Amino acid sequence: MTMLQGRRIVLGVTGGIAAYKAIEVCRRLVDAGAHVSPILTEGAMHFVGATTFSALASEPVQTSLWDEESPIPHTRLGQQADLIVVAPATARSIAAYAHGLSDDLLTATLIATRAPVIVCPAMHTEMWEHPAVQANLEILRGRGVIIVPPAEGRLAGGDVGTGRLAEPADILAAVEHSLASSQDLTGLRVLVTAGGTREAIDSVRVITNRSSGKQGHAVAEEAAYRGAEVTLVTTVDRPTPAGATVIRVSSAAEMQDAVMPIAAEHDIVVMAAAVADFRPAVVVDRKLKKDEFGQGGTPQIVLEPTHDFLVDLGLAKPAGQTLVGFAAETDDVIDNARAKLVRKRLDLIVANDVGAARCGFEHDTNAVVLLGADGMHHNVPLTDKRIIARAILDAVMALRTSTD
Ligand code: CTP
Repeated sequence: MTMLQGRRIVLGVTGGIAAYKAIEVCRRLVDAGAHVSPILTEGAMHFVGATTFSALASEPVQTSLWDEESPIPHTRLGQQADLIVVAPATARSIAAYAHGLSDDLLTATLIATRAPVIVCPAMHTEMWEHPAVQANLEILRGRGVIIVPPAEGRLAGGDVGTGRLAEPADILAAVEHSLASSQDLTGLRVLVTAGGTREAIDSVRVITNRSSGKQGHAVAEEAAYRGAEVTLVTTVDRPTPAGATVIRVSSAAEMQDAVMPIAAEHDIVVMAAAVADFRPAVVVDRKLKKDEFGQGGTPQIVLEPTHDFLVDLGLAKPAGQTLVGFAAETDDVIDNARAKLVRKRLDLIVANDVGAARCGFEHDTNAVVLLGADGMHHNVPLTDKRIIARAILDAVMALRTSTD
């Protein structure tokens, strides 16, 4: 029996050229045993015929809020679904979903569901890269929606670039994974730190680093999505998972003060934050003025080391806790990360080559190597930070079940 056997899946198809690939997604879901209810938007009907879907799916296609005898088809579909997958998702449908506009059957169903949702965008590269589209995806990610990112390749009209709908096999894998793991962290308490710390020079200036907090927030979102009780200690103002306890901090010392008293209460601690290693030794409690340093003069900022509290967490780790650190490296990534894993007594370290293209700080994508104290060595190639978060928590859960 497959993971999909008997699962009720709503397949939303919106109006893009990739809609023809949704036929294959539909067929594969049905072949795997799922009960598939297709919803096509009006736009989708310009690209593919409803008859094809009706023939392949478990129920006839629905396109309108007003077709059924029941005046509320969206609540029926939304409430009964085990999962909703939207493939392809156009920029318009992503925007409507992100902003709660329920003006057609698909968006109404998306708003009316509590089931996990997978969105598979497909559009031209220019549209995919537009800040409005990315901002809307960020909103959805923040609410626990899984985004299966588009691939690079040939697009409609002969263009080449990022924007092609992910392959049906990848969409199926995301569906299976989501159903398999949707609640595996239930009953666990997860503490996540995120973002770069800010160390004051004077009352207006800080020293910080390029960490955006995206990877840490993605771990918190994935943990919450999988049923964990999440505490997020963060330096950045980004969407946070619904239901999480959020503690906002700024400096390394504030993060340490927030984390240390509560760490032992957590089953899993993921230190994704880029904590400063040095801070100004003296903080001036007013704004330094140029004329204090004479004509053309500059202040001498003397740094002192911060305290590495991940070392303390490793030393004080309670039985049964899984402690995860990050290693942001530009050289000898694996060797340096492995050394940190041992020195800080971690169970898992996420080795992050922050010098590689589209990886690490500020990007939406990342590529990491997961190194376990048990010898685990798992490569996660360039992908969305939420999918990296998923791989990290999968590795954590694998470690926890092997030591049960
Ligand atoms: N960390 C911490 N406290 C610090 C510095 C780092 O808790 N003062 C944590 C980070 O959250 C991260 C891990 O330690 O999970 C590794 O941080 P990184 O800066 O990569 O390593 P360092 O130990 O500072 O080593 P190096 O300077 O050699 O890179």
